[in-house]
Amino acid sequence: MRKDTLRLGVVGLGTVGTGTVKIVQNHAAMLSARTGTSIEITAVSARSRSKDRGIDISAYAWEDDPVALAKRDDVDVLVELMGGTDGPAKAATEAALSLGKSVVTANKALLAVHGQALAELAEANGAQIRFEAAVAGGIPVVKALTEGLAANAMTRVLGVMNGTCNYILTRMESAGLPYDTVFQEANDLGYLEADPNLDVGGIDAGHKLALLASIAFGTQVDFDAVALEGIGAITIEDISRAADMGYKIKLLGLAQMTDAGLQQSMRPCLVPASSPLGQLEGGTNMVVLEGDAVGQIVMRGAGAGEGPTASAVMADVCDLARGIDLPVFGQPAASLAKAAPAVSATPCPYYLRLTLRDEPGALAQVATTLGNSGISIDRMRQYDHSDADTAPVLIVTHACAPNDLDRAVSALTQIATVVGAPVALQIQNV
Ligand code: NAP
Ligand code: HSE
Repeated sequence: MRKDTLRLGVVGLGTVGTGTVKIVQNHAAMLSARTGTSIEITAVSARSRSKDRGIDISAYAWEDDPVALAKRDDVDVLVELMGGTDGPAKAATEAALSLGKSVVTANKALLAVHGQALAELAEANGAQIRFEAAVAGGIPVVKALTEGLAANAMTRVLGVMNGTCNYILTRMESAGLPYDTVFQEANDLGYLEADPNLDVGGIDAGHKLALLASIAFGTQVDFDAVALEGIGAITIEDISRAADMGYKIKLLGLAQMTDAGLQQSMRPCLVPASSPLGQLEGGTNMVVLEGDAVGQIVMRGAGAGEGPTASAVMADVCDLARGIDLPVFGQPAASLAKAAPAVSATPCPYYLRLTLRDEPGALAQVATTLGNSGISIDRMRQYDHSDADTAPVLIVTHACAPNDLDRAVSALTQIATVVGAPVALQIQNV
C-alpha cells in the first residue's frame, strides 16, 4: 500500500549504507517526484556511533541494536546493509518481516542461505524482501528477470558476478603478474571481502547465481547445490596459453534447467576473447539472460562500490514507495519448486594443459587416452621447451561430456609420461 511518507531504518553505514544515505539526502525532491512519496530516513544503526562516515546522520535516531531499530514505530522499511549469513542481519530482517515491514537488502549471503524461509516469513506477514543490490551491484538484473522477462521460460542464466575475481584475472593478464602478487594488490586496494575466500573461492558469486537461478527457474534458492571452484589455482601460464588459443579465463557462473534437474556452477572457464564476456575488464560484472521468447540479453556494469550498489538499494526503495508489490523470488514462495540438483552433463569443449616428458610416443599415449574416453581433439599445441626435458602441451577438445572428461583426466594422471596433474577448464562459447 502506498503512503505519503516512507520511513526507512538503515542498519549498516559502511560502503553501501553511506551511499544509500547520500542518495536519500541528495535526491530527496527527485525521489519524491518519481514515486509520489516522501522518502525519509528516521533511524540508523552501525557498530560505532562515533565513527566519521562523511555524512550527516544527526537528524536520525540512533540504535545500537539493529533488531531494536527494525521494531521502531517510526520505521516502515528496514534497509539491511550490514552483511552476514546469520547474526544481526538475519535477526533484524526476521524482526521487521514478523511485524509486516518490508526489507531492502544487499545481503546475498543471507538470502542465498535463508532465502526460502525468509520469503515465506515475508509473505505470511504481508511484507516484501527486495534484493536488487545483492546481485551484480548496480546492474538491475533482479528487476530484469522478475519483471522485464516475466513472460519468458528462461533457458540459461550466466555471467561474471564477482568484480574482484575479474579484476584479478584481467590484471594478471595485462600486467603479466602471478596470482599471489595481484591478490595482494587487490587486498591493498580494498577490493577483497573481509574473508577473501568469499571472493576468490567463488562463494560470493555463487550466492548471486543461486538467487538468480531461483527467479529464473521458479525454484527454491539452493546455494548448496552450486558447484563451486575458485580462481586460486589459475596460473599466469594458463592465462597466456588460453590467450594464445583465442580465449580469456573468467570466473563464470552458469545456471540452467535440464531434464536431470537444475545445474548451477561457478567456476573458472574459458570464453572467446572477442566475446562480450571475454572483453570484460577489471571489476565490472556482466550477466547474460536467455529466454525462450526474448533470446539473449546482456547486461554490463559496476558490480560493486558505494554509488552503484546504493543505486540498486534505492531502486527497491522506490518500488516500495510506489506501492509495487512483488513476490520475493518472482512468484509466491509456496509455489517455488524444490529443484533436483544436477551435476553438469551438458557437453562442452575443454582446455587441457599438460606437462609431458619429452619421450617418443608421449603425445600418442595422451591422444589414445582421450580417444578411449570418447574425447576428440580439436586443436593441439606443444610449446618450445629447448631448455627442459618436459614439454608444455595444450589441447582444446571437441565438445564432450564432463563425466568423460573427468574419466580421461584421471586416466592421464596414471600415465608415466604425464608430469603432475593436468589442468582442465571448460570452454563456454558465449
Ligand atoms: P561494510 O562497509 O563492511 O559496512 C558494514 C556496516 O555494517 C558497517 O557500518 C558496520 O558498522 C555495520 N555493522 C556490522 N555489524 C553490525 C552490528 N552487529 N550492528 C550494527 N551494525 C553493524 O559493508 P558493505 O560493503 O557496505 O556491505 C554491506 C552489504 O552489502 C553486505 O551484505 C555486502 O555483501 C553487500 N554488498 C556490498 C557491495 C559493495 O560494493 N561493498 C556490493 C554489493 C553488495 P561500523 O561501520 O560501525 O563498523
Ligand atoms: N566482493 C564483491 C565483488 C562485491 O567483488 O564483486 C560485493 O558483491
